[in-house]
Amino acid sequence: MSQNIPFIDLHPKASKFTIDVHEGLKNLPKKIPAKYFYDKRGSELFDEICTLPEYYQTRTETKILRDLVPSLKDIIPGDITLIEYGSGSSVKTQILLDHWDNIKTYIPLDISKEHLLETAAELKSRYPQKRVLPICADYNDGTKIKEALAGETSKRVIFFPGSTIGNLVPDRRKALLKSTQEILGQGGYFLVGIDLASKDTQIINRAYNDDQGVTAEFNLNLLSRINRELDANFNVRKFSHKAFFNKAEQRIEMHLISQAEQSVRVGEERINFEVGESIHTENSYKFTVPDFTAEVEKLSYSVEHVWQDPKKYFAIFLLKN
Ligand code: TRP
Repeated sequence: MSQNIPFIDLHPKASKFTIDVHEGLKNLPKKIPAKYFYDKRGSELFDEICTLPEYYQTRTETKILRDLVPSLKDIIPGDITLIEYGSGSSVKTQILLDHWDNIKTYIPLDISKEHLLETAAELKSRYPQKRVLPICADYNDGTKIKEALAGETSKRVIFFPGSTIGNLVPDRRKALLKSTQEILGQGGYFLVGIDLASKDTQIINRAYNDDQGVTAEFNLNLLSRINRELDANFNVRKFSHKAFFNKAEQRIEMHLISQAEQSVRVGEERINFEVGESIHTENSYKFTVPDFTAEVEKLSYSVEHVWQDPKKYFAIFLLKN
């Protein structure tokens, strides 16, 4: 089915995966960029994380979206091209597609090609009247994305749910915010979800340490993926998942901890691990509404609306460029 719909491939990773993993594992402390979580299996496991009882983010954001969607067509009139960063299975987007008729074109943008194409084909059959144009890209490649979108003349809205913006360190976050402004042009909108810091730390910690161990499996899948794609020999059972809230940095950190002194081959390279040594795989920053407001206003975005759930676990910002 996927061959019926047009598709743009900006080749986000093929050449860089090996380099990024080698560099990251030679770094001290060791680290691997989080975007490599999302192979086919990783994307599936992430969908499962979103349904876990501990993972409050997805259901909270979904509820906020349902409540706010009727007001969007009044705030943003006219035809819309909706661009979603890290679209995954596009579950939340369907709330927008169902209730916001002015979306004429939907552009899901994701790094996981197979998953993206499957999802796009499904969406096209569910919304035959809309144009669906999947783009396989890393959302940090702003320049390439901007070029790929050159022909889109309707008002642009970028949708970035899931507090995925919190997976970027502050410098990268700033760069991403700037690049969305370039892509949106004057008068475009950025609809972005952020996870809030002001809740009990235990609730945050549990969201990344679920009882069923799905998050652990997701984290460890990164090593299996490296084994599969980069000719490596990680013994996945000799690593364990660790996630904790780092209060000073206001972020969840996710690590893979070596359970033994061991040596691993990754392609041509050999990497040594001490017992207890970590590979830092992910950050997930938590925000406050005033801090995030100040950060985006500094870049001359204007905050049009902020929606929150009653418990103030999560917020969705509508920014205007
Ligand atoms: N944006 C999500 C978050 O920070 C991504 C995420 C959720 C995640 N659970 C994870 C990433 C587990 C890696 C591992 O909450």
